[in-house]
Amino acid sequence: MKEGQDWIYTDIVKDHFLNPRNFLMGDESKFKYDAVGLVGNPICGDQMKMFIKVNDDKIIDLRWKTYGCASAIASTSALSELAKGKSLDEALKISAKDIDDYLGNLPKHKFHCSVLGHEALADAIKNYREAKKKA
Ligand code: FES
Repeated sequence: MKEGQDWIYTDIVKDHFLNPRNFLMGDESKFKYDAVGLVGNPICGDQMKMFIKVNDDKIIDLRWKTYGCASAIASTSALSELAKGKSLDEALKISAKDIDDYLGNLPKHKFHCSVLGHEALADAIKNYREAKKKA
């Protein structure tokens, strides 16, 4: 990578930022979800909320919303594509590297943004499992 290129977003990142997949637009109650996760980024203070719909231990659908930056939006859009249709355990195994590979590399100084969606997804799965235990 040439000097200065670490500041450049790839075309895939730009596409996911400008056309985020599975983004929850507007009223949360319009999406019927089974569990929700909410996390904050300690570095910048941004937040991410993840809503999951689960059937037979599989994520059959999901939506998300955030106050995060372009990297957080693109990363979570990619994560949402990777997680849909996976079992809960498989979804938890999606790594920051998987997301980075999918997007063709994020700037390194934006790494903390790329984990926000995954942390929100993990929180949603934890909340889903806790609710199921109580039921
Ligand atoms: S700067 Fe806050 S999520 Fe990227």
